[in-house]
Amino acid sequence: MDKSIGAVVLAAGKGTRMHSQEPKVLRPLLGEPMLRYVLEVLTELFSDRVHVVIGHQADKVRRAFPEYQGRFVLQEEQKGTGHALQCAWADLKARGYEYILVMNGDVPMARAEDLSEFVLQTLTSRADMAFLSIELSDPGAYGRVARDDSGQTRIVEAKDYEEAIFGPASCEINAGIYMLRVEAVGQALFELSDANKSGEFYITDLAGLIGVQGGRVTAVNRGLEPNLLGINTPGELVMAEERLRERIVAGWQDRGVIIRAPGAARIGPRVEIAPGAELSGPCDILGQTSIAAEARLDPHVWVRDCRLAEGSTVLAFSHLEGARLDRGSQAGPYARLRPGAVMEEASRVGNFVEMKKTVLGAGAKASHLTYLGDAEVGAGSNIGAGTITCNYDGKLKHKTSIGEGAFIGSNTALVAPVTVGAGAVVGAGSVITKDVPEKALAVARGKQVNLIRRKNLP
Ligand code: UD1
Ligand code: CA
Repeated sequence: MDKSIGAVVLAAGKGTRMHSQEPKVLRPLLGEPMLRYVLEVLTELFSDRVHVVIGHQADKVRRAFPEYQGRFVLQEEQKGTGHALQCAWADLKARGYEYILVMNGDVPMARAEDLSEFVLQTLTSRADMAFLSIELSDPGAYGRVARDDSGQTRIVEAKDYEEAIFGPASCEINAGIYMLRVEAVGQALFELSDANKSGEFYITDLAGLIGVQGGRVTAVNRGLEPNLLGINTPGELVMAEERLRERIVAGWQDRGVIIRAPGAARIGPRVEIAPGAELSGPCDILGQTSIAAEARLDPHVWVRDCRLAEGSTVLAFSHLEGARLDRGSQAGPYARLRPGAVMEEASRVGNFVEMKKTVLGAGAKASHLTYLGDAEVGAGSNIGAGTITCNYDGKLKHKTSIGEGAFIGSNTALVAPVTVGAGAVVGAGSVITKDVPEKALAVARGKQVNLIRRKNLP
């Protein structure tokens, strides 16, 4: 995109209609904050020429995007969308933009092509102000597009719309995405008034003002386009999430990923999947997860920020976060892998096994009912059913190291810090509090005593 065009996102509002303390732009869709969708699209088009106006819980919003390359502008008090743009104005002028694209932060479904086409249309028409409009059978709380007898286009907010003045409302509404020619808009921007039903400075009043000053204002009508709808209520959020979900799933299907029961597969926008991978709904695959070719995920899995290598398998009802599964490894059913869980090549984790900050070496197995935390398990070891690393003493976490080819008998408690040497065997039911040397057999349990009963009961 031409370097003389910058972009501004208005994201300072609270989002009262969401009924949540969390800033609206941080409400998640498929595990990612609403604002991320807008920033992704704008960054694709404008790279670092993206300015985001923040205000309500500004620090929280800022912290949610540590990798964001553009700039944040603070709108300390939220006095309306026009006021939000006023707050960014000095910065925008200083950057010397000829045009700016201004966009509400609550339009996560808008695609790059929706915007780039609009930008090009505006540049061609040399309008002073252009905005995208859509048609709704019920214009609800949206700003209505009104045209007076002389053909002047303006936007009238729903609350301020009076049929006596503006005539019967049309179904054409303002989508909240604007192109403004910086030279032509500066004066009008600071002439906005807050004498309206909300007591706010509306960016939408620019249309009327610029028109009066002899500037050219055009509405670019996109008809029934649902991708331009804004998100204001929980119901709208869920509808938008569903649309995005369908779009993402269809995208991966087109690229050769098998997705069974696709209607219930929820895949986040940052997930990467190689052609030939196979997954099935219902599932949640979120965050920065990558799934390699020939990997398979069965239904009812929840996966976030994981790396699943070629030929790895996640069986049903597993919950994986921040885990790495190397080639040919297999987790589940009912596996719980927490951050820092690493399954090296061809290792196996079975039902009701939890791993945290633990490396399970190549070919090692923990097949049933086990907790491995802050542990290192050597290649080829076998961890028996019911093994527990006692990694926490109430204050600190301690490490358990198990060498290659070790055999830990069922129902063993490994009281960390502790090391079990390579090739060692631990007898079932042991409570291991001391290091076990290589190849040794450790048994740490009460001895069985069989007594002769004095009187044989019936
Ligand atoms: C706005 C438009 C309306 C349009 C609709 C499209 C105005 C006055 N109205 O209404 O014409 O049909 O979007 O979706 O602009 N914000 C700030 N600072 C503020 C207030 C809001 O940054 O002081 C941000 C919000 O975070 C939000 C965006 O501006 O991302 C729009 O605000 P919102 O309250 O959702 O406006 P709407 O009532 O939807
Ligand atoms: Ca809105």
